Amino acid sequence: MPPLTKELEEIQTDQSAGPPRQTGPCVMVIFGATGDLTARKLFPALYNLAKSNMLSREFAVVGFAKNEYSTDEFRKLMGQNLDNFATEKVDPDLKEWLLKRLYYVSGSFTDRESYQRLAQTLAEVDKNHNTHGNYFFYLATSPVFFADIVDLLGSTGLAVEKDGQWRRIVFEKPFGNDLESARHLNEQIKKTLSEHQIFRIDHYLGKETVQNILVFRFSNGIFEPIWNHRFIDHVQITVAETVGVEKRGGYFDMAGTLRDMVPNHLFQLLSLTTMEPPISFSSDAVHDEQAKILHAVQPLSAEDVLHCAVRGQYGEGEINGERLPAYRSEPGVPPDSKTETFVAMRLVIDNWRWAGVPFYLRTGKRLARRATEVAIQFKRAPFVLFRDTPVNSLKPNQLVIHIAPDEGISLRFGAKRPGAQVRVGSVEMDFNYSDYFGTTPNTGYEILLYDGITGDQTLFQRADMVEAGWTVVDPILDVWKALPPRIFPNYPAGAWGPKEADDIINRDGNYWRKIQ
Ligand code: BG6
Repeated sequence: MPPLTKELEEIQTDQSAGPPRQTGPCVMVIFGATGDLTARKLFPALYNLAKSNMLSREFAVVGFAKNEYSTDEFRKLMGQNLDNFATEKVDPDLKEWLLKRLYYVSGSFTDRESYQRLAQTLAEVDKNHNTHGNYFFYLATSPVFFADIVDLLGSTGLAVEKDGQWRRIVFEKPFGNDLESARHLNEQIKKTLSEHQIFRIDHYLGKETVQNILVFRFSNGIFEPIWNHRFIDHVQITVAETVGVEKRGGYFDMAGTLRDMVPNHLFQLLSLTTMEPPISFSSDAVHDEQAKILHAVQPLSAEDVLHCAVRGQYGEGEINGERLPAYRSEPGVPPDSKTETFVAMRLVIDNWRWAGVPFYLRTGKRLARRATEVAIQFKRAPFVLFRDTPVNSLKPNQLVIHIAPDEGISLRFGAKRPGAQVRVGSVEMDFNYSDYFGTTPNTGYEILLYDGITGDQTLFQRADMVEAGWTVVDPILDVWKALPPRIFPNYPAGAWGPKEADDIINRDGNYWRKIQ
């Protein structure tokens, strides 16, 4: 840890916000409760919330899924899952406290009678745990069920808010698979629900460093004045993964990287980096600005798609000495799959702040390194002063917001190398989250569950944001559908994507950042 100044000590011991507020009473109903998401993220996140004393004592969970479990069997399963996936050593008393609040209903997402049984269980649980009739539905299911579930929750009265009781529904991603389906889904669920009941999740917003983009931009006097086309040359957003599709071949092959990552995760990073200052941190104020900036992204014509968007699929290769199979040999993937596992694109935001600044986005699976970051490259300083020195190039300043696996911010600038001659070396100033704030065991879902239960929609997506994201992606989907890829696989596992990904940035005289 670096030496602490007095102010930093104050930051670290800042108690001004007081202890976190507890959620109010409610029952959380998890649709798809026997799936991976519940085991790996939702239940460990509930445990962490309980550990930080942020969950009301008047709280219970009802799991709903098609597997034939009894409540006892479900408790046992979730206990084992918690032991496997908790983010720290499990406290047996707290685990017991949570397990005692777990119930299970076996049923089908499309069968009315199952919902009637769910309603009965909910009424009993409500009475036993004094949860005040507040229900927090979490749809951790395939999106094909979203509309039916909402319909049935509506027609069985479970989604109705009355007598001060609230009903909120979380939708896991993907929300639609193109603009038309997202619009249709929004229309369908709005027949039953009001927007204030709808929580469209994007787990990137649960990441501290993603939320920090707004704080970094708007709580510091020195960055915002230069956060525009006069000072910024271009922006690179990278979400690189070393993992392949793991056990999700079936889902992934239908979706592909463009749908899976771009209109949601990459556009969250893009919109937070580029939006205008909101008038407050209220959800509507933040969402207004995010939607506005996504609408300002210049739509790609079919011609643009051919030049400014690149897709790739990994073949076999090697990462960290490990031989890895091609995408087409992954379980659940057809041997002639034409689905992309890599996407790169060049976008332009045509407004007063960003006119002329290219935004390069890339994301893919089985790339050389795991790294999620936003790199802001500033314009180069004029060279005139260094003309008669051995300096033959000046590197532009670069500010990098590191999101994963490291969390922090670094700034590259030029400094004089020691010696009689004027030489410039590139040096970096690094801020590392954990050095200053330590680390807290976290799945990334705690804040999202907490905000959902307390009714704060800021970290969720509003209908128009989701639709604006699909509006940008739709022309690419259309062109790619009409022109299937000719040469797939086109990059080996362990590379940084296909060669064409370099072309879209090199053409402007820029280069992808080398991520070590
Ligand atoms: C999910 C995608 O939403 O995000 C996955 O469906 C992807 O394909 C994952 O691997 C990446 O999330 P993170 O938090 O690991 O960057």
